Amino acid sequence: MTVNRLETDKMREIKAACACLFSEAAAKSDRFLDTLDVDMVKRAYRRNAKVHHPDMKASTAVNDVTSDRFLAIQQSYEVLVNYLEGMNPGTDAVLSQGKIVAVGGAKGGIGKSVITANLGIYLASLGLKTVLVDLDLGGSNLHLYLGYRSILQRSINDFLKKRVSSLDEVMIQSPHGPLLIGGDSSELGSANIDFMKKMKLIKAINAIEADCVVLDLGGDTSYNILDFFLQADHGIVVTTRDSASYIGAYHFLKAAMYRKLNRLTGMESRSGEDKNSELERYIRESTMTGDGQSSKTINELVASVREEHPQYLSTVMKAVWGFNPYLVVNRLPIGVGPEEVAGKIQSVARHWLAREVKLLGSIGRHPDVERSAIDLIPAITRHPRSTFATEIATIASKLLKTV
Ligand SMILES: Nc1ncnc2c1ncn2[C@@H]1O[C@H](COP(=O)(O)OP(=O)(O)OP(=O)(O)O)[C@@H](O)[C@H]1O
Ligand SMILES: [Mg+2]
Repeated sequence: MTVNRLETDKMREIKAACACLFSEAAAKSDRFLDTLDVDMVKRAYRRNAKVHHPDMKASTAVNDVTSDRFLAIQQSYEVLVNYLEGMNPGTDAVLSQGKIVAVGGAKGGIGKSVITANLGIYLASLGLKTVLVDLDLGGSNLHLYLGYRSILQRSINDFLKKRVSSLDEVMIQSPHGPLLIGGDSSELGSANIDFMKKMKLIKAINAIEADCVVLDLGGDTSYNILDFFLQADHGIVVTTRDSASYIGAYHFLKAAMYRKLNRLTGMESRSGEDKNSELERYIRESTMTGDGQSSKTINELVASVREEHPQYLSTVMKAVWGFNPYLVVNRLPIGVGPEEVAGKIQSVARHWLAREVKLLGSIGRHPDVERSAIDLIPAITRHPRSTFATEIATIASKLLKTV
């Protein structure tokens, strides 16, 4: 069964449980789910059990119907308590590794900023100190998805242009939970940062004191964007079902892997390797043709390193194995499984990159999300127990572990 179907089925089960313990009207209302808590479920269970528990009936009145009804009440109780506890895994949840999550994908308008904002709001709601960074330097709009209608008074540009000395000075508390380091692309040249500025930014992002730092990236495969993506402990590539989007997702993955290898010992690399120009030149020459396209698959590259430079084999293998991005399929129409989209990207990644790119989750097409882009109230804030919120929570849960 597909992830999307699973999520839809899960929501159907939750609504049926609401109908059983509360009422049909409650089951149909998103607002009811938003206000539901474990105490309400426990009270409803006791109320129903008083009426339907077989011990409460005269023995002659106990039949299959009363037993089935009581069983349904018990199951509904479990479904709702599990759901509510799953939506809030408690204060012990932390990212399974590191602190940086990057949300990328080589196309505009596919939902990177929507996902960053709502994922950030969800992570902050778990009590994690969460900082969102708008790294779409040429098209900053993450602040809009967090409810800001006008240009921010402080932005990442103030840091890049040395008007302030630290990122802390441009960090603001957003109204919906996470902290925000926003952008302002109305300032001329804001997208064009040189190598030293990029390094300064990367260093400052790595130094942010937080449980989670979520990076919202621009929609292309420029070196700056790839380098930001490669800083992440959890790299998420967003795609939709559109051909341009999934082809873009695949190009993004390939470009990120080859960028990582080509800058294996560069200043921006997280490999910890000492500068090694010979290794970098070898990788560059064997992976790039004259027009900048990669000409070798990763398996071919590894085979040639093994033969020609076996002393570098473990370094290259470590870099390849350390490349573990995830896919999120967004705006999925009802009835379509995300595997249909993800499978195409995964098979090309398997062939070219020798990596299994995991499907982290999928998000349906929700009118609530479209509305949030207009009235600037994040969809997860408006309906924290909606299907969309459950999808975001499911994605987050795969990035978290309990301690
Ligand atoms: N799951 C969804 N359901 C319905 N609409 C969606 C969904 N995800 C995104 N959208 C719509 O798509 C629009 C574009 O989303 P978003 O701005 O997050 O894309 P992006 O990938 O960040 O684009 P860019 O690269 O231009 O910044 C949003 O305004 C929203 O209306
Ligand atoms: Mg965006």
